[in-house]
Amino acid sequence: MSEKNIILKSSISGILLAFLLLFFLPESRTAGYENVPRLNPNCPPGFKRNADNECIAQSLYMQYDSPNNKGVGGLQTGLPEIRDGFSPQEIDLGRYLFFDPVLSGSGTISCATCHDPKKGFSDGLPTSIGHNGQQLKRAAPSLWNVAFLKKLFWDGRASTLEEQLKGPLFSEEEMNNTPESLLKTLNEIQEYRAFFAEAFPKRRAEDRIELNEVYRAIAAFQSSLLSLNSKYDRYAHGYHEALNEKEIEGMNVFRSFIARCAECHTPPLFTNQQFAVIGTPEPDGLPLDPGAEIPFNDKTLRGAFKVPSLRNIAKTAPYMHSGNFSTLRETVEFYTKGRGHAVPEDEDIILHWHIWDPQLSDYELDRLVDFLNTLTDETFMPRIPERLPSGLKPSI
Ligand code: HEC
Ligand code: HEC
Repeated sequence: MSEKNIILKSSISGILLAFLLLFFLPESRTAGYENVPRLNPNCPPGFKRNADNECIAQSLYMQYDSPNNKGVGGLQTGLPEIRDGFSPQEIDLGRYLFFDPVLSGSGTISCATCHDPKKGFSDGLPTSIGHNGQQLKRAAPSLWNVAFLKKLFWDGRASTLEEQLKGPLFSEEEMNNTPESLLKTLNEIQEYRAFFAEAFPKRRAEDRIELNEVYRAIAAFQSSLLSLNSKYDRYAHGYHEALNEKEIEGMNVFRSFIARCAECHTPPLFTNQQFAVIGTPEPDGLPLDPGAEIPFNDKTLRGAFKVPSLRNIAKTAPYMHSGNFSTLRETVEFYTKGRGHAVPEDEDIILHWHIWDPQLSDYELDRLVDFLNTLTDETFMPRIPERLPSGLKPSI
């Protein structure tokens, strides 16, 4: 066969193939969803899949049998109970939803807009910006290790991830969606229909997407964000060369009965999951944030906030519920400026007894910052989806 012929033949078959694709591909995309991409069948790193297709978290800490609600968090204290057991497909579907701005009323805001992986799943702002540029009252917390938390939000007003995420989804200040319109939008996207059918195999493929499935998938993804392999962790597991001398000095200040940091920020999660009134300032001109007083209807909790975990703290500036401190140095200095120094004069709040006047030196404050910088670990950073079922760009 001459070269010309080959070229002719191959271009004819090329055209034929293009026609075949044009006519048959869209067909098979809708019928039975054969040609849509599949969800990842493997658990994310840090998890092991069991016989029931559930991802179970794995960490050296889980081999230590002293639970962290006892004592002040010695090096080999166990972790609190974790919310795991989601399927790989639920987690992967949640990853798409988390980054997809189609979840918001305007189609421009995703969870990742305020919980950006590159900023420790926070947003780098003192307080977040929501729908139509509205400024929220509090800072966006990190989502690393959120699977361990018993209470969510700075004031603890939600107890599960599913309950929590209805807040941003349906608040007019944040994503400004409604349950009806969220479901309508998702059910119109064939690829999401296929993904939900794959992630929730007990239902029939033609069933419509339901709200509790949306909530569960996003909760599953968030629960997969583990950060437990920092320099500090390597030290705690016995590799003593993982921390240098200055970092060890900082750790000793942190754990001391003078600074008392570890009594609230208890290792290994670096929170005892309690609420404490420590008297942090609001930005100029703003009244005191009542914090946990409101949801718990308890005056003794006026100005109390959930003790935040300090993992990946180097990534999540600015700090505190109000985002009022821009650096870690400024944040640790707060603790040594005198008990209640930032509480408005007309406020009579009950400060926690561990908040006192430790009189830490500049050297000690610098070492505390060195130590806090050893709590960074992003090795299990999830991949941002390159494309989304909605066709929109991941909004971050
Ligand atoms: C407009 C910005 C914004 C958007 C969008 C947003 N969040 Fe948040 N998120 C915040 C802020 C601010 C807080 C703290 C509010 C408070 O405590 O009162 C928060 C708190 C949280 C918490 C509690 C963490 C903790 O430690 O208590 C979780 C979990 C969370 N968000 C997940 C999500 C998910 C999932 C979505 C998407 C459905 C989402 N967020 C969308 C700003 C946002
Ligand atoms: C009585 C309990 C308690 C003690 C003791 C304590 N903290 Fe805190 N810490 C908190 C609470 C509660 C917050 C959040 C307060 C707020 O947002 O207004 C916080 C916030 C922080 C933050 C900012 C976290 C973030 O995500 O913005 C850092 C950093 C921090 N503490 C470090 C320390 C260090 C270092 C010490 C020791 C010098 C210490 N803490 C002692 C309860 C405590």
